[in-house]
Amino acid sequence: MLARDPLKAAVFEVNRLTLDYPTSKGTVRAVDNVSFRVGKGERLVLLGPSGCGKSSILKAVAGFLKPATGTIKVRGREVKGPGPDRIVVFQEFDQLLPWKTVRQNVEFPLRMASKLPRAEIRERTEATLRKVGLERALDSYPHTLSGGMKQRAAIARALVTDADVLLMDEPFAALDALTRSQLQGELLDLAEELGFTLLFVTHSIEEAILIGTKLHLLSPHPGRTITSLDTHEFGREDVGSARLETLTREVHNLLFSPKIRSEVLEDV
Ligand SMILES: Nc1ncnc2c1ncn2[C@@H]1O[C@H](COP(=O)(O)OP(=O)(O)O)[C@@H](O)[C@H]1O
Ligand SMILES: [Mg+2]
Repeated sequence: MLARDPLKAAVFEVNRLTLDYPTSKGTVRAVDNVSFRVGKGERLVLLGPSGCGKSSILKAVAGFLKPATGTIKVRGREVKGPGPDRIVVFQEFDQLLPWKTVRQNVEFPLRMASKLPRAEIRERTEATLRKVGLERALDSYPHTLSGGMKQRAAIARALVTDADVLLMDEPFAALDALTRSQLQGELLDLAEELGFTLLFVTHSIEEAILIGTKLHLLSPHPGRTITSLDTHEFGREDVGSARLETLTREVHNLLFSPKIRSEVLEDV
């Protein structure tokens, strides 16, 4: 039964991925032999210290960086370059053009990617903005929006082309703690409402546990898989709880205790 085959259910699949950068001093290996699979509606978080290759993996999934070895497949097809099915939402949502209104920003990728009639572009844009609750901000400019509204506009811009995979690289890293926590909550609400699949990168353990249904832990440079953890049972209600603190400590040890890490890595 093909429909029950778990491999068929994967939205994307990264298999034994190795990423290299050419430099004047030779090749730098950024990512070494990393594999993971993400199912529909899952939120996979890549977690690891600075320089372990998280952004590189995200760029490779987005199609901007070619694997040295290994493969990346999206719905069974190998990624050969960027595509409208996988959209990167950047830090601080600065893909929103400040001189364009929310409507114009969200229409933009549709106008670039397709030859749809104007009326349909308009209709789709408005429907997507309704979905994210921004129908009243259609004609506002990005600088007049709150952080949460900007995030919703950036997500609408991604979803309008029927993308159902969002790629986010430390989108909240530069924000103050309160705004960050508010936007994390809004992202979870939107993910649950709209059902998109998320690949999210962070070096914050608590953020990873909160956002992710699954964590993929990476060792320091070059990034190798330490282990994967199922965290779908942890959510906002766990903030400040003892069990979240315990898990955070365990994840911290896996990431930063060389002894524990090498024991886990030897088992792989
Ligand atoms: N353009 C580049 N040229 C050479 N080395 C790079 C380049 N981009 C990243 N690297 C190296 O690859 C490694 C992983 O980088 P990156 O993916 O940005 O890590 P992270 O996002 O986890 O902080 C780092 O050691 C970094 O120095
Ligand atoms: Mg990075």
